[in-house]
Amino acid sequence: MKVAIGCDHGGLELKEGIVALLGSQGAEIIDMGTGGDCCSADGKPAAAGRPVSVDYPDYGAKVAGAVSAGEVDKGILVCGTGIGMSIVANKFPGVRAALCHDAFTARMSRMHNDANILAIGGRVTGREVALDMVNIWLSTPFEGGRHQRRLDKISDIEKSAR
Ligand code: RB5
Repeated sequence: MKVAIGCDHGGLELKEGIVALLGSQGAEIIDMGTGGDCCSADGKPAAAGRPVSVDYPDYGAKVAGAVSAGEVDKGILVCGTGIGMSIVANKFPGVRAALCHDAFTARMSRMHNDANILAIGGRVTGREVALDMVNIWLSTPFEGGRHQRRLDKISDIEKSAR
């Protein structure tokens, strides 16, 4: 499975933990940034001990674009709250980004919503809970059936709203 991952400065620490976890499991991960850059785009240095501030739409769009284009199977996005990343990601055709906070919401987002992007708040969800969520989310299958009918309705709404 090919998984793209991205974050802003608010999600960098957690993203690094997720990349390490998935790497140790042999998953194919495409890290789309942000990394620990020394300076912002306008040349301002990061404050001591903190990652440089970046704009979450830039990184959300990279991951969601790759999922939308079918270049990767799934995506994971981390910002401070997970809210901005989920808003950005859900602008992309075919993307079903779910902002999850625990094992239950992560599992349900796969079983009922066939979520193809997991959004997490790096300042909201503790590291161990988040890593557990990632494992659950990547291994839980979609249930189909009546849930597929509902996803088909979402696709129709997406087409008619263009
Ligand atoms: C950045 O300070 C913060 O706004 C961002 O990480 C995220 O929480 C946005 O939704």
